[in-house]
Amino acid sequence: MDLTQLIDLKECPRLAKKYEGIAALPLALPRFELDSANEFWHIWNKEVSVVDRQHIDRGAPTENPNTISKTYTQWDGLAMYEDQKLLGNAAWLTKVSTAMANSQPNYIKLIFSALPFVKIRSIRLWSAHKTISAHHDGNMPPSLDGKMRFPTEIRIMLDDKNPTETFYLTPASKHAPHTTIPIEDRYYVKLPSDTNTFAWNNEDYLHGADYIEPYKKILVVIKGWIDTKRLEKLLDQSIEKYPLYVIKEKN
Ligand SMILES: [Fe+2]
Repeated sequence: MDLTQLIDLKECPRLAKKYEGIAALPLALPRFELDSANEFWHIWNKEVSVVDRQHIDRGAPTENPNTISKTYTQWDGLAMYEDQKLLGNAAWLTKVSTAMANSQPNYIKLIFSALPFVKIRSIRLWSAHKTISAHHDGNMPPSLDGKMRFPTEIRIMLDDKNPTETFYLTPASKHAPHTTIPIEDRYYVKLPSDTNTFAWNNEDYLHGADYIEPYKKILVVIKGWIDTKRLEKLLDQSIEKYPLYVIKEKN
């Protein structure tokens, strides 16, 4: 399967122009609610495991495999869904929990039906255990890196114990990956109460997250190939519904 063909690349320049300057935004989708929060926490507490690096992509501090520590970790997590055929090329390896998947069937079903993907590779629940420095996520395959300059990366906030927002974007034109980002250049994602999903532009902006002990959060990381038509419709609806929450680059 040619994974690059899953993205309608000829649409990308137009979408980049249309959404220029938008770093991130909440998505106009109903809140994703767990089938059973009790079961979720029971399984999470029992099974949560460290997420290991298994492949170097552009998200790593350097792309030289000899200088990357494969023992470096920054998240704990579990996967609810993983395309086993594609897993070998994924940057991070997350323990798949059948118990977790079985306990939240409608949550997973809704991710597949409501989010604008042509194909989903993985649904992972990640909780940082240290500061995540600003970076670009890598695409699969890396030849897709640099192509989609509009909000395509989608996350669901499953749980956040932090008193204030911790996930931020910063202009890639101003800052290099894995450098210290001054506070005035951190654009924090704030979610309205009626949605827990957001998207960001993973090319023109870097993303990172503060880690403030003892507060934990769990983000649902959905990786796949976006459906440009459905995404465009959803972005338009989201901009219309949450104009004050759209994060635009400050001049
Ligand atoms: Fe990332």
